[in-house]
Amino acid sequence: RAFLYRLWKGTVSSKMLNPRLQKAMRYYMSFNKHGVRFRGRRKARRTRPELLCELRKRVHVRTLDGKEPPFSALGWRPLVPGVPLSQLHPHGLRSCAVVMSAGAILNSSLGEEIDSHDAVLRFNSAPTRGYEKDVGNKTTVRIINSQILANPSHHFIDSSLYKDVILVAWDPAPYSANLNLWYKKPDYNLFTPYIQHRRRHPTQPFYILHPKFIWQLWDIIQENTREKIQPNPPSSGFIGILIMMSMCREVHVYEYIPSVRQTELCHYHELYYDAACTLGAYHPLLYEKLLVQRLNMGTQADLHHKGKVVLPGFQALRC
Ligand code: C5P
Repeated sequence: RAFLYRLWKGTVSSKMLNPRLQKAMRYYMSFNKHGVRFRGRRKARRTRPELLCELRKRVHVRTLDGKEPPFSALGWRPLVPGVPLSQLHPHGLRSCAVVMSAGAILNSSLGEEIDSHDAVLRFNSAPTRGYEKDVGNKTTVRIINSQILANPSHHFIDSSLYKDVILVAWDPAPYSANLNLWYKKPDYNLFTPYIQHRRRHPTQPFYILHPKFIWQLWDIIQENTREKIQPNPPSSGFIGILIMMSMCREVHVYEYIPSVRQTELCHYHELYYDAACTLGAYHPLLYEKLLVQRLNMGTQADLHHKGKVVLPGFQALRC
């Protein structure tokens, strides 16, 4: 509980995590699987308005457009959607919800509030059916990692979870964002199922995030954190929050910063317990959350009881 209070206040450090999580973090730090070489400087003193304007200036949602090698030579140009993700809603959506898959959302009764937003973002295989009261049933965008595409157990091809929504997929690439290296050796092969799906459903908006976008987000987290963060991509949750901040005038994020319902239950839809899901081991999740906590313009009551953070969209900022 003391940890939760400090997370709400933004005064936690990785030293306060349990020894197992600290050990996992140290392992990822030394392994540096993606060859991260941070060239920026760590300056954690920006104010909320400074941080928001910095984000607006630097965060440009980018997806594969098929114009760069190796994708250009592979004939991807006509295969990717004609309208870029950033232009799907050129005038911006008014109010958007980002619904984290955390176990803490169970018994929240947030469903109605979530569905009242103009657009709702969900992650991976998180269902709504059977959980409507707590998570709502509207889904506008779904962010999926490459495992969902590559692993047959997720039934990407035929599950209704992935139909009638905007799909945004991603996979950890080398920090160098060398697309040739990435194409040869993705974490999970998302390229083949992506192409198949584009051919079968050419009208469904379906994008793959550009590795430069993902690592740009990582750089921003590190620049604004005093401690050294894990050299691995940000979580889907953080990626989703920033995509919605560029598409909506206001973004309501649910159960990213845990509410009083905080639990080690990893996902609301799965009986699996692991504190790493909420606090991070592979992903620099704790630091992402501290950054998002600093940006919150919602009330403390909403944070504690709904696990809700309210963020301005980039278009709503005066920089
Ligand atoms: O586990 P999964 O990546 O599908 O969950 C989607 C996102 O929700 C995560 O990337 C993370 O940002 C967030 N999450 C969380 N706490 C949990 C589970 C998920 O903050 N217990």
